[in-house]
Amino acid sequence: MKLDDRVAVVTGAGRGIGRAISLAFAKEGADIAVASIDPEENEAVAGEVRAFGRRALPYQVDVSDSGQVQAMAAATLEEFGRVDILVSNAGIQRRALLAFSDEEEWKRVIEVNVYGAYHCCKAFLGGMVERNHGRVIITSSISGKMVNPANSSYAVSKHGLIGLARSLASEVAMLGAKGVTVNAICPGLTDTDIMTGPDGNIAKLSEMLGKTREEIWDEIYRPLILQERMLKPEEIAAMALYLASDDARGITGQSINVCGGTIMH
Ligand SMILES: NC(=O)c1ccc[n+]([C@@H]2O[C@H](COP(=O)([O-])OP(=O)(O)OC[C@H]3O[C@@H](n4cnc5c(N)ncnc54)[C@H](O)[C@@H]3O)[C@@H](O)[C@H]2O)c1
Repeated sequence: MKLDDRVAVVTGAGRGIGRAISLAFAKEGADIAVASIDPEENEAVAGEVRAFGRRALPYQVDVSDSGQVQAMAAATLEEFGRVDILVSNAGIQRRALLAFSDEEEWKRVIEVNVYGAYHCCKAFLGGMVERNHGRVIITSSISGKMVNPANSSYAVSKHGLIGLARSLASEVAMLGAKGVTVNAICPGLTDTDIMTGPDGNIAKLSEMLGKTREEIWDEIYRPLILQERMLKPEEIAAMALYLASDDARGITGQSINVCGGTIMH
């Protein structure tokens, strides 16, 4: 198996892309700390991980809180002894035109998306560098490379995460830990709550623009995507699995698009 007896921490693992990554990793032999802000979702995904015969640690954490992330790291190390793979994937989006945005909401996006990744990387990188072995995978977005209106906090956070992945890749190399890789994945439109849920992008834009959800898809989103379809979370998980595997040992400091051809840079 590709991840035989590896230990992975996946944040935002309770549903969507994080759940798909947790299950893809467990299927390939990894034990998983299933970490998200929602304890019920964590328990459910932990059950699915165990169904593959792997160990799971469901852990409720708000990644924007450094104390909670440190406690999660301690609990994970106590349970599994080490962490080989960190998938920093938890993220939120709050759409608003900047001129009318709420400062607290704007900050919250940066706190969860950017500081969340900062706290997690800080908590887990040290052990990887010491063992000269590890994988850090950060979920950015095509919004890390392109923009659209009423999305500034998210775009800033996702651009920042690409900078974080590049910076950390250079730092671990400088520390001599050439066996540790750090990369970002940039998903395109993927069928999860953040896109298609009751408070998701399509619903929010439909409300803001006074159009039906079908019109939002047909007029705004579909024309952006060469393949004219939304991706499945499992397609993002396949890239995460590759980056976590030994096959990807030569890939570091990259931001890899999985987006049906929406962007090409
Ligand atoms: N779905 C898309 O189209 C898309 C595209 C590009 C990038 N992404 C990114 O993929 C990642 C996963 O999102 P998704 O699409 O699966 O959405 P989702 O809303 O289904 O899942 C988000 C996960 O993050 C968790 N979470 C939210 N706030 C948290 C916090 N403060 N602390 C810990 N956990 C928290 C949620 O409980 C959930 O498990 C996010 O970073 C998102 O920005 C998604």
